Amino acid sequence: NKDFAFTFGIITVSDKGSRGERKDESGPAAEELLKPMGGIMKKYMIVPDEREDIKKAIKEMADSLNIDMILTSGGTGFSPRDVTPEATLEMIERIVPGIPEAMRAESLKATPKAMLSRAMAGIRGRSLIINLPGSPKGVRECLSVVIPVLRHGIETLR
Ligand code: MTE
Repeated sequence: NKDFAFTFGIITVSDKGSRGERKDESGPAAEELLKPMGGIMKKYMIVPDEREDIKKAIKEMADSLNIDMILTSGGTGFSPRDVTPEATLEMIERIVPGIPEAMRAESLKATPKAMLSRAMAGIRGRSLIINLPGSPKGVRECLSVVIPVLRHGIETLR
């Protein structure tokens, strides 16, 4: 993949993480997977489980920084504070259902709890936005599913 480079941003969505009460391991896990395939991390943010904060972070990464792929981690479950999918839906212009479908299909082989992920994916301008679960393990498993199609997807968006 020497001839392919792309930018990515990570938004870790966590109340505790944003208060500095928990070290974020999910962001670094995503970075570790994407760097070897040409990914350049342009921005990394930790925000609380608040719709407006998540939307603002997505907007900055897509509209101001023109980042190719924006990943969110966390806030996709059933807890009353989990609003990442709703914030994402408000920001995307075109839905990409196949990505969360594939992530859930693959994750279901490991755990039925994959059904509890409400993750979304979609496009805003030239940015692809993907929701990932909060755990580093979930991040690795779900990112691995999309990696084989990333290049084609990102190149088509440009
Ligand atoms: N997907 C994978 N691949 N691995 C996981 O461990 N955890 C599930 C699900 N998807 C998981 C997964 C669980 S237990 C939940 S509650 C949802 O993702 C939502 O997680 P979140 O609230 O951290 O976003």
